[in-house]
Amino acid sequence: MQRSLARSPLFWLAGILVVGLAIGLAMTALPGEPSPAQAAEAGSIPFSHQVHVEEAGVQCLFCHSQALRAPQASLPSLQTCMTCHEYITVDEDGQELVQQVVQAYESGARVQWPDVYKQPDFVRFSHRAHLAGGVACQTCHGPVEEMGIVEKRVEMNMGFCLDCHRTQIREHPEMAAMEKARLLDCTTCHK
Ligand code: HEC
Ligand code: HEC
Ligand code: HEC
Ligand code: HEC
Ligand code: HEC
Repeated sequence: MQRSLARSPLFWLAGILVVGLAIGLAMTALPGEPSPAQAAEAGSIPFSHQVHVEEAGVQCLFCHSQALRAPQASLPSLQTCMTCHEYITVDEDGQELVQQVVQAYESGARVQWPDVYKQPDFVRFSHRAHLAGGVACQTCHGPVEEMGIVEKRVEMNMGFCLDCHRTQIREHPEMAAMEKARLLDCTTCHK
């Protein structure tokens, strides 16, 4: 019985499937959830807007490109950091900090930056619409290019939003009446 089973093609096929499945599982398990240690490490990843925007001249949209086409501007992944830091060299102090970024990337850690400007769930907002309307990032976020980690400089409450929408209406008398009404309609900004 043993021998005939071992000779059966089905036996071998089953064996190959089991081994294949084990390898597959091991591969998908690798870049899975970061351990708490990895998450903590990622939470303290050094990053400065001042260094990147003011000194190195990187454009906001290089890292927040979603803002052009989506409601969310989104934060860059560690992979985006590596598009530069795989190749460029920085001065000695900087290189030590960059090494922390490289290590976090290689360990597969997921970064958790703090939420700075998060709005309540009942607010509807779209970056795309405002970029298309020519509103500068700094109007709503302040001089981010001068900051290390971003801090909240602008209080984006309802009055702040409505003030600008009323200004748009005043400064664009040619705007269709429906469009004017829409900028002040509760359901434009609320779900
Ligand atoms: C090289 C990549 C990079 C560039 C360039 C960059 N940012 Fe960022 N931005 C980040 C990272 C990483 C974070 C998360 C860390 C933090 O909050 O500082 C962030 C966070 C932010 C936040 C806070 C998000 C929140 O949680 O509310 C704002 C606002 C922001 N960036 C705006 C800008 C603006 C405006 C510019 C251009 C003047 C810019 N960024 C350029 C990478 C970048
Ligand atoms: C009209 C105001 C306004 C303008 C202009 C604006 N933002 Fe924002 N931004 C917001 C609001 C409001 C939020 C919070 C959105 C939420 O919680 O849904 C936000 C959130 C963010 C975040 C956090 C992540 C996210 O997607 O929610 C980043 C990063 C950011 N903005 C970057 C930028 C950059 C870069 C620009 C310019 C290209 C920009 N913003 C222009 C109002 C603005
Ligand atoms: C478009 C290229 C580019 C991208 C993308 C980029 N960097 Fe940099 N980064 C630079 C340059 C250039 C310098 C060196 C500036 C200098 O030394 O004058 C630098 C310097 C640094 C430094 C050392 C200087 C310091 O004191 O902060 C750290 C740390 C760093 N980057 C982290 C990050 C992280 C984290 C990301 C992703 C969120 C990132 N970088 C994305 C170009 C980039
Ligand atoms: C500095 C001016 C300014 C500020 C501040 C501003 N908006 Fe706007 N908003 C605009 C402009 C310009 C448009 C586009 C009008 C058009 O379509 O012609 C717009 C359009 C919108 C739309 C319609 C989007 C679409 O899909 O067409 C929403 C929703 C909106 N804004 C929400 C907000 C909220 C929420 C805030 C505050 C967190 C805010 N806005 C702050 C100028 C502003
Ligand atoms: C241009 C965008 C916009 C329009 C239009 C708008 N809201 Fe708001 N509203 C907001 C934002 C943003 C907040 C969140 C403010 C905060 O977190 O400080 C808010 C908050 C609120 C809140 C919570 C309490 C408060 O004041 O924080 C209520 C209630 C509310 N809005 C009702 C309305 C009603 C009713 C209308 C129509 C007459 C309206 N909103 C029109 C943007 C808007």
